[in-house]
Amino acid sequence: MMFYNENCIEGAKKYLKSDSIDLIVSDPPYGINGDKLDKHYNRDESNVLDGYVEVPEKEYPEFSEKWIKEAARVLRPGGSIYIVSGYSQLRHILNALANTALQEKNHIIWKYNFGVYTSKKYISSHYHILYYVKPSGNVTFNTNAFFADCEKNENGGSLNYLDREDVWIINREYKPGQTKNKNELPKSLLTKIILYSSNPNDMVCDFFLGSFSTAKVATGLGRRACGFEINKNAFDYQINEIEKIQPREYLPELRKIPENKFVNKGKPLLTEEIAEITKEYTQLTKNGTSKKNACNLLSDKYGRGYWSILNIVSSNHVLPQNEKITLFD
Ligand SMILES: C[S@@+](CC[C@H](N)C(=O)[O-])C[C@H]1O[C@@H](n2cnc3c(N)ncnc32)[C@H](O)[C@@H]1O
Repeated sequence: MMFYNENCIEGAKKYLKSDSIDLIVSDPPYGINGDKLDKHYNRDESNVLDGYVEVPEKEYPEFSEKWIKEAARVLRPGGSIYIVSGYSQLRHILNALANTALQEKNHIIWKYNFGVYTSKKYISSHYHILYYVKPSGNVTFNTNAFFADCEKNENGGSLNYLDREDVWIINREYKPGQTKNKNELPKSLLTKIILYSSNPNDMVCDFFLGSFSTAKVATGLGRRACGFEINKNAFDYQINEIEKIQPREYLPELRKIPENKFVNKGKPLLTEEIAEITKEYTQLTKNGTSKKNACNLLSDKYGRGYWSILNIVSSNHVLPQNEKITLFD
């Protein structure tokens, strides 16, 4: 593992080769006097490691340009980068990203609990997560990272669809009495990013390690990790902590994804199958089954997607014997 107690801009130039990193997950300092926020909000920070390094507000545009330029250089073609940002300095991060060749994939909103309490304006309870990729390579996006296509919630909604929406509601972790960094990213948020956007053994880099949360989760999920933290106090403490994480130790905690039941998805449809589905659908709906339930039942029975069944029963296929057609599943 390669962790450096250095400024990430100089460190990346010295230690990271161009096109070498599969995934970058970074949560840069906020440029809002983050090192003094505890006094402002009256937080108890007795367990927070001293020495958090903030970036002065007026230096934020140049600072963002410099580290994001390095991040773009070290990502492999097709590699992904996720940057977490509050709203105050967001424009500078967006400008810096626009000055690279990186392409925007999503602008994710992360909604968390315990927003910053304010009485004269709305309570701030979200961060922005900017998801970009480097062009000209294979992008890793594991669509079934958490849910198979067939998994439904109690209202019949697709769990896979809901998990892939770009608004994430993820609580911050409450760690009473534990030594920590300011504003640690939750393990579940990092698990989500790492499972969707990397594969086992990929190299995951964090330019602002803080509590090494990205590196710890990446290691626990069987990825390799590297990164930078300028604060010696946090670095010296966390470099020992990460040694305690065994490679792949978090894998058994992940839920098992059921086999995809749409076993025939994408296979050509035969005239006989279309005729049978149409006949059964007519019978079911005549007997009072709703259109939606009939499609779901036939989707299960024939191992084809819901939309494929709907497509069949909504059109009048008149096909010569044994002609094959392909419909979209
Ligand atoms: C918002 S925190 C990161 C929190 C981290 N994601 C976590 O979960 O603990 C930003 C971190 O960047 C560090 N930092 C500030 N400037 C830096 C620089 N130029 N290079 C490397 N680290 C820096 C700060 O000391 C701080 O620990």
